[in-house]
Amino acid sequence: MTVNRKPVMAGNWKMYKTVQEAETFLEALMNKVKGLLATDQPDIILCPPFTALDAMHRLLSNEKTISLGAQTMESHEEGAYTGEISPKMLAVLHVQFVIIGHSERREYFHETDTQVHAKIGAALQFGLTPIVCVGESLAQREAGQTDAWIKKQVEAALKDYSPEQRQKMIFAYEPIWAIGTGKVCDAVEANRVIGSIRQTIGLPEVRILYGGSVKPDNVTGLMAQPEIDGGLVGGASLDPDSFFQLIQAAMPQKVSVS
Ligand code: 13P
Repeated sequence: MTVNRKPVMAGNWKMYKTVQEAETFLEALMNKVKGLLATDQPDIILCPPFTALDAMHRLLSNEKTISLGAQTMESHEEGAYTGEISPKMLAVLHVQFVIIGHSERREYFHETDTQVHAKIGAALQFGLTPIVCVGESLAQREAGQTDAWIKKQVEAALKDYSPEQRQKMIFAYEPIWAIGTGKVCDAVEANRVIGSIRQTIGLPEVRILYGGSVKPDNVTGLMAQPEIDGGLVGGASLDPDSFFQLIQAAMPQKVSVS
């Protein structure tokens, strides 16, 4: 069986960039992307802070090559949840993707597997594609617990969701020890873990990204791996030149699945 999984290059800006800084970045990136043939483009996703989403959508106007994502959301449609943003609010801002369960949300904001599961369902209900993050800590890796931990996180995220719902998700394997540290996971090992995530999901067409210190100088090796469909990038997505280099390295490819 041959499955086409369109590559993805997604930038997670975390808590960086004011509205004006976001607009300046986007203008620069749009100019660069203009030069690429449509057939050469991966799915390009930018996940700025909530405050920049509307301005970036306006700037994108009819430009369909770059999509917007949010970095998190609440699972409720509306309600007394001070400080939170709902999937409905994102959907009307033309947001198409939402990162769910990033390790920084799990660690600093105590987001649980149960909340991650609920948020995935809410995202799907409002037509948003969840980018579901999983990953082990350094202590778990050193204790040989990586595979069991990742399987547990993926199963908790997917629990009771149908194959039709699973098909609409993107996953990201982000080993916590590789995030923001400059210590990228070995490409062959990232490929192995991502392959096992795909087995747990049970659908060869679901796209799975790698995240954790993806940079222009290591992206080619990562993208050459058959299971890795793209990157979820923090630091190197903040500069239009380096992010564009990552986009160029993530050109569409055909993946054969036996
Ligand atoms: P870095 O690319 O800065 O390591 O961040 C990765 C990440 O957390 C993306 O979600």
